[in-house]
Amino acid sequence: MLCKNIISLYQNKGIPLADIKTVFDGYFHISFDEGFFSDKDIPDSFVLETLDKLLSGYPANYLAGYIDVQGLHLFLNEDTLIPRNETIAFVFDFIKNQYPLHQKKVLDLCTGSGLIALGVKKLFPDAMVYGSDISLSALEMAKKSAKYNHLDVTFLQSDYLNDIQDTFDVILSNPPYIPVNAEGVNAPFEPDIALYSGEDGLDSYRSIFSKLDSHLNKDGFAMFEMDARNCYDVTYSKEGLLSQYKNVFSGEAFKDIYGRYRYLKLSKR
Ligand SMILES: C[S@@+](CC[C@H](N)C(=O)[O-])C[C@H]1O[C@@H](n2cnc3c(N)ncnc32)[C@H](O)[C@@H]1O
Repeated sequence: MLCKNIISLYQNKGIPLADIKTVFDGYFHISFDEGFFSDKDIPDSFVLETLDKLLSGYPANYLAGYIDVQGLHLFLNEDTLIPRNETIAFVFDFIKNQYPLHQKKVLDLCTGSGLIALGVKKLFPDAMVYGSDISLSALEMAKKSAKYNHLDVTFLQSDYLNDIQDTFDVILSNPPYIPVNAEGVNAPFEPDIALYSGEDGLDSYRSIFSKLDSHLNKDGFAMFEMDARNCYDVTYSKEGLLSQYKNVFSGEAFKDIYGRYRYLKLSKR
């Protein structure tokens, strides 16, 4: 099938143009812009098989094996969460503007594709940046992306903070935080381990908070992405997760680009 016919077919079937572009550039290896004029032919069976995958909801970025984010080329496989807008804004807007990390020693805990770690290193080249995750397969992608983007970031495997001995000025983390039985979660192709964390979605924070104090340097702080349903309560409620740490940390909740409380900052007292 001719490229221009594939583009119309996919559009007529409701595939968003951005996904068609991703598939052309990253999976068919034909520049989308050239696609309209190209006389290249792709076998019908391959075109239709790809269409079926896209119609089933399989992410175009998994087919392509990458996503381009704010000038970063991030490699992806099925063990890496596809970066979300809130997290991209967390790094490239919130952290960039509110918390410049020059010369800080920074850990991106639960790094996945390496988005936060690589974003911080790109924004603040004089920061010493580390990224950790339990998934070796995700870490492989993050390392490959670091090399490709010429960013000097050290990646290590750890179950949350349990296998890390080092201390940091700043710990940033977007851990899994969806309750296991939550309804309306639409991410069937992404790894469960990146999404779900116990009955209330807070198991990841329980584990991390219990080890946080000993991994933060004096005057250090940590920032977490959190489910909008939990963030305010965890931060401020008297019975919330933070209540047992009130002598150790002060907590503050911040809103994301959509105006929902989504980021928790814990500062060492
Ligand atoms: C929500 S994803 C975040 C990925 C990336 N930081 C981002 O924001 O796009 C959570 C990550 O936590 C990792 N993870 C899950 N359980 C973990 C554990 N016990 N210890 C360390 N990392 C874990 C997953 O492999 C996944 O990469």
